[in-house]
Amino acid sequence: MKNIHLKFSILFTAFLTFLSFFYSCNNNKTGADKKANADSLNAMIAKGKYLAHNVSGCIDCHSQRDYNKFSGLVVNGTEGMGGEVFNEIYSIPGVVFAKNITPDTVNGIGKWTDEEIVRAITRGINKNGDTLYPIMPYPYYNLMSKDDIYSIIAYLRTLKPNNNAVPERKLFIPLATVYPQLQSNSPADNVKPDVSDMVKYGAYMVNSATCMECHTPMENGKYVISKKFSGGFHYNLGSFKVNSANITPDTATGIGKWTEEMFLDKFKHYRDPALFVSDPGKKNSIMPWSLFAKMDDLDIKAIYRYLQTIPPVNNLVEKYPK
Ligand code: HEC
Ligand code: HEC
Repeated sequence: MKNIHLKFSILFTAFLTFLSFFYSCNNNKTGADKKANADSLNAMIAKGKYLAHNVSGCIDCHSQRDYNKFSGLVVNGTEGMGGEVFNEIYSIPGVVFAKNITPDTVNGIGKWTDEEIVRAITRGINKNGDTLYPIMPYPYYNLMSKDDIYSIIAYLRTLKPNNNAVPERKLFIPLATVYPQLQSNSPADNVKPDVSDMVKYGAYMVNSATCMECHTPMENGKYVISKKFSGGFHYNLGSFKVNSANITPDTATGIGKWTEEMFLDKFKHYRDPALFVSDPGKKNSIMPWSLFAKMDDLDIKAIYRYLQTIPPVNNLVEKYPK
C-alpha cells in the first residue's frame, strides 16, 4: 500500500514538473514571437475580410440588403446577421434564409468549431449534420484553398455578435435531389494557383467569386452547362427585373470586344460611393457591384484573362427586360 502511495507521489511530482516546464516554455516566448503571431493572425483576418466581403459574397448574402440603393447595398451594421430570403426568384422550390454567421453563441456560429464551419462552407453540412440548400454556394467553396477558408473563418470570428434568430427554411422537394457532386474531399487538397499564372489564378478567383452561379442560364432548375457564363439568368425582384449579362468572349453578344482596361474600369467605376446613395429605379442589379468593385486590380485583371479563355457563346441578353 505504502509502495503504491510512493509510486503515485513520484508520478505526481513528475507530472507537476512537466506541467511547469510546459507552462514556462509557452510563457517564455519572446516578445518578438508573440508579435509575429499577432501579426500573422491580423494578416489572416485582413485576408479573410477581403474574401468574405469583396470576393466570395459571404457578407453580400448573409447581411440585410437595401434594393432602394444600387445593387442591393449591404445595410451597415447588419454584416453576418442573416435573414435574407431566397425563393423562386433564385429558382428555389421553397424558401431558404441566409443564416446568422456572427459569433453569437445562441443564434450564430459562436459555439461551432473551426472544423464544423469548414464543413458547412465546403461541404454544405451544418453543425447538426443537416444538409444546406446549395444556394449557399458550397460546391464552389469546395475548391478553395485551406488557407483561404481558414482566413474567412478567422474574420467571421471578429464580427460583432448579433442575436438575430433566422426562421427555418421550407422546401417542397427533398434536399437529396439537389445535393451536388462535390469535387474535393478536403480544402487541404486544394491549391491556390500562383498569380504568375494569371489565367489559372483568374479561374480560381472566378470560382471563389461564384460568377458562374448568376451568369449561367437555368432550365428546369438545372444549369445549362453548354451556355456557361452566357447570361440570361432572369431575376424579378418586383421593383425591377434584370437578366445577367453574357460574359463569354463572344464578340457580338458577350464581352469579346472589351479590353482588359475596359473590364477593369467597369469594376472601378463602382468604387464611387456616390453611386449608391439614391434609388436607381428600374436600372438596378442583383450583382453586388459595391463589393466586387473593391477587388484588387490584379484580381479583376486575372478574372478578365480567364474569362477570355472560355468558349464564346452567342446569346443575346436584354439586361433590362420590359
Ligand atoms: C448566394 C448566397 C450565399 C452566399 C454567397 C453565401 N451563403 Fe452561406 N448560406 C446561405 C444560405 C441561404 C444558407 C442557409 C441554407 C439552408 O438553410 O439550407 C447559408 C448557410 C451558411 C452556413 C450554415 C449556418 C447554419 O446555421 O446552418 C454557414 C456557416 C455559411 N452559410 C457561411 C458562409 C460563408 C463563410 C460564405 C462565404 C464564403 C457564405 N456562407 C456565402 C447563402 C449564402
Ligand atoms: C448575384 C448574381 C451575380 C454574381 C454573383 C455576379 N454577377 Fe455579374 N451580373 C449580374 C447581373 C444580373 C448583371 C446584369 C446587370 C448589371 O450590369 O449589373 C451582371 C453584369 C455583369 C457585367 C456587365 C456586363 C455588361 O455587358 O454590361 C460583368 C462584366 C459581370 N457581370 C461580371 C461578373 C463577374 C466577373 C462576376 C464574378 C466576380 C460576376 N459578374 C458575378 C449578376 C451577377
